[in-house]
This record gives sequence, structure tokens and C-alpha cells, in this order.
Amino acid sequence: MNSDEFRKYGHEIVEWIARYYENIEQYPVKSKSAPGSVKAALPAIPPTGSESFDLFLKDFDDIIMPGITHWQSPNFFAYFPANSSPPSVLAEMLTAALGTQCMIWETSPAAAELEERMMEWLREMTGLPSCFEGVIQDSASSATLAAIITAREKVTRYASNREGLSVAGRLRVYCSAQAHSSVEKGAGVAGIGRENLVRVPVKGDYSIDTDALRKAVEQDLSAGFVPCCVVATLGTTGTTAIDPLRPVGEICREKNIWLHVDAAIAGTALLLPEMRWMADGMEYVDSLVFNPHKWMFTNFDCSAYFVRDAASLIRTFEILPEYLKTRTRGTVNDYRDWGIPLGRRFRALKLWAVIRTYGVERLQEMIREHIRLAKMLAGLIEAEKDFKVMAPVVLNTVCFRFEPEGMSLEQANRLNEKINHKLNDTGRIYLTHTTVDGRYVLRMVTAQTTVSERHVLNAWEMIKDYVSALSAEHGAVDVD
Ligand SMILES: Cc1ncc(COP(=O)(O)O)c(C=O)c1O
Repeated sequence: MNSDEFRKYGHEIVEWIARYYENIEQYPVKSKSAPGSVKAALPAIPPTGSESFDLFLKDFDDIIMPGITHWQSPNFFAYFPANSSPPSVLAEMLTAALGTQCMIWETSPAAAELEERMMEWLREMTGLPSCFEGVIQDSASSATLAAIITAREKVTRYASNREGLSVAGRLRVYCSAQAHSSVEKGAGVAGIGRENLVRVPVKGDYSIDTDALRKAVEQDLSAGFVPCCVVATLGTTGTTAIDPLRPVGEICREKNIWLHVDAAIAGTALLLPEMRWMADGMEYVDSLVFNPHKWMFTNFDCSAYFVRDAASLIRTFEILPEYLKTRTRGTVNDYRDWGIPLGRRFRALKLWAVIRTYGVERLQEMIREHIRLAKMLAGLIEAEKDFKVMAPVVLNTVCFRFEPEGMSLEQANRLNEKINHKLNDTGRIYLTHTTVDGRYVLRMVTAQTTVSERHVLNAWEMIKDYVSALSAEHGAVDVD
């Protein structure tokens, strides 16, 4: 592709993106593709000769777009937010254009130093302790893995990296029963073993039961295990429960255990002074991850990982092949030493674009509005006969369920599952579910970049209309 063609297609693609955002509500939110249909439309073998880029764009529209689920739609209420924004997309284009590898300072000083500055900005914006240092990781899963491995190294005095896990004793990791699966994956990948992840029971609000945590740690100590890391969650995936950091931290301090905080979703809410209560006890925290690629209008991937003692992280991951030796080593941040991959994308650029374009105050307003929408929706649900809010609404997620009087738990489970699928099949909204205490629960997340009160109210009307149509059709609600 020559420069003229690049310019022509570049303009076309920016135009395509602008139109996409303008018309996003016209697409079915959840893709209606049948399994295998996209693959079947693709040739089994690659072209031997060159094809025109027009053909690529045509196939993108005809084959790929029908198989896309529209996460940026304001009618997307599923899973968790993964919101993006125009400044983020434009900066990402520049990152792709530069194609720079940000593994060490010398491979692009601006990338390393912008990353350092952006982590300082995020630390300031979220009110994290000034001694924390940060690095951008690809995902919260990678950051949590890095935390568990660092905790493992610390507890084994950095011997397990060198000599293997036989020196480690029987290590244990703890998290709540509601913690994200990345903690279990991390414990497995770190060689600690999934069976050595202790899932601590939760209380009525789905936050970790700290008495049970203390008991589990003490029992393990008397049985000869070595407690290594506790992962507390701010904003669990299912119900956005908030683990209390202070009592968890006191246990960790007393027993000398690394405390990592998975704030993948909730970290963004720390931009709001009124949400800083979640950070009470931060002085006990060794590391924390939050995802601007979830709720801070920055497209995937961009995970902010903070550590109190960066030296322990670096000591865990540092490795120095000859070809990466530099004269600046030790005087600059070489971020390949701060995590698992060597090659790193220039992710700080989109963060810079987002923070500057919106400004902290506008970001705060948008986040505050998402929380308001969730609380408004919870109020509407509570006011409706036979609907119940199933977990405290603290952030951007509402867990609820239709539970007509006299219906058994299993029947109500099947009914809510049916409601979920039928609504998603319309293509007009997309919500997902979780289970709490054996109950199938619908979830709505109100944190997409362009979501507004109108979208939330429309979705709620659709849910109510569907449920009353079911009742009218069958006299009583038909479950099957
Ligand atoms: C609480 C929590 N932690 C971790 C993750 C994993 O995030 P990532 O995709 O960045 O690894 C998620 C994703 O849903 C999450 O909700």
C-alpha cells in the first residue's frame, strides 16, 4: 500500500468509525451469528497474490460486522464495562502507526516516560498513596499473576524463581468466594496450585468474611502451610461487592502476607472523592490493579498496576540478556522488568489522550452519572411488584430477579434465564447473568460511554413489557 492509498483508505476508515458511532444503536447489540458461520464465509487458504484493500473493507462489512457484539452500544448492559472513546481510538491509531516496542527505556524513551507520568497522574486521580509506583499491564489477569508471583518470591526470599518451587513449602493464596477467576488461574500458573487457593466465604453483601479469613489463615499456619498472598476485591465481577481493606490488611500485616487488591472494575470509581471510602486501609496494601480499559473510556488493553515496593516486583521479573544491556540501566524505568512479557505496546498514549481530552472533572461527572443510573434503576426495580434487587448497588451494576410469589426457586431460575435469552435475542439490549446463593440473577451494567437515562429506562420498560406479555399470554407466567 503506497502513501496515497494509505491516505485514501485512512480517511475512509475514520469516516467509517464516525458513522459506526453515530449509528451504533441500529446494530443488534448481541451478534446473531450462528456458530461456525463466520469461519465458513472465510476462504480455507490465504490468497497467494495481492488483493485490493477495497475487498478487505467489503468483507469486513459483510462477513465480520454481523459477527460483532457491540460493546460500545449504549444498550450494552452485559458483563462489565469495556468502554472506549474517540480520543482513545485516535491515540490507538498513532500507537499502531509508530509500532514501537516499549520494553526498555531506550527502545522509546518517550513511551517509558509518558507511562511513568501517566501512572503518577492515575495515582493522583485515584488518591492512592504517593509511595505507589505504577506500570501499565495488558490485563488485570496479568497484573494479579504478577502480584502472586512477587508474593511467592518474597515469601521464599526470591529462591523459587532460581531453584524452583521445591524450596517454597506449601504456599497458600486467599480470596473471597466471589473473587474473579483470574486469581485461581494466577495461583495455578504461579505454581502454587489451584487447590492451594482458599476461597473464603462471603457475608450477606457478598464481601469477604474477615473472621473466616483469619480463621483460614490460622488453621493453615497450624497445619504447616505458608500463607503467601491475599487478594481482596474492590468490585467483584458478579455483584460488585467491596471487600473491606482495613480488616483484611490488619490480618495480612499481622501474619506477614502480601495484600493485592483487584480493583479491575471499581478502581475508576476512586476518581470520585465520595467513593474513597473503598480505599480505607490502603496503607496495608502491597499492590493494586485497576482497568482504565473497563470503566475509564480507554479501549482495551490498559491495566494500571501499582506496587508499594517496586524493587520487589523488579527483583522478581528482571532478567538481562546481552542484547538488552544499556548504558542507562538503573537510571530509568525499563518496564520489561515490571511484568511478564518483554514486548510491550505503547499504551500510555491513549491514556494521555483520554485524560487530557476529557479532563478529570468531566471523567468524574461521567462516572458519577453511571453510578446514579445504576441506583435509579435499582429504585425502579425495587418499586415493581415481584422484582427484587439481589445485591447492594454501589457502583455501576444492578443484580435483580423476577420472582413472582409462590414460584419455587428452580422455576424462578428457569424463568429468569428465559427472560435473559429472549431479551438478548431481540438484539435491542444485551444483559448477562450471575448466580448468587443458588439463584439465577440478571445483571445490568450502566457504564458504557454513551449510555444515558433514556437507554436505561427503555431497557427497563422492555424487561417489564416482556414479563407482562408472558403473564398475559399464559394467564400465569409460563416458565418452559
Ligand atoms: C474483578 C475482576 N477482576 C479481573 C478481571 C479480569 O480482567 P482482565 O480482562 O483485564 O484480565 C475482571 C473482568 O471481568 C474482573 O471483573
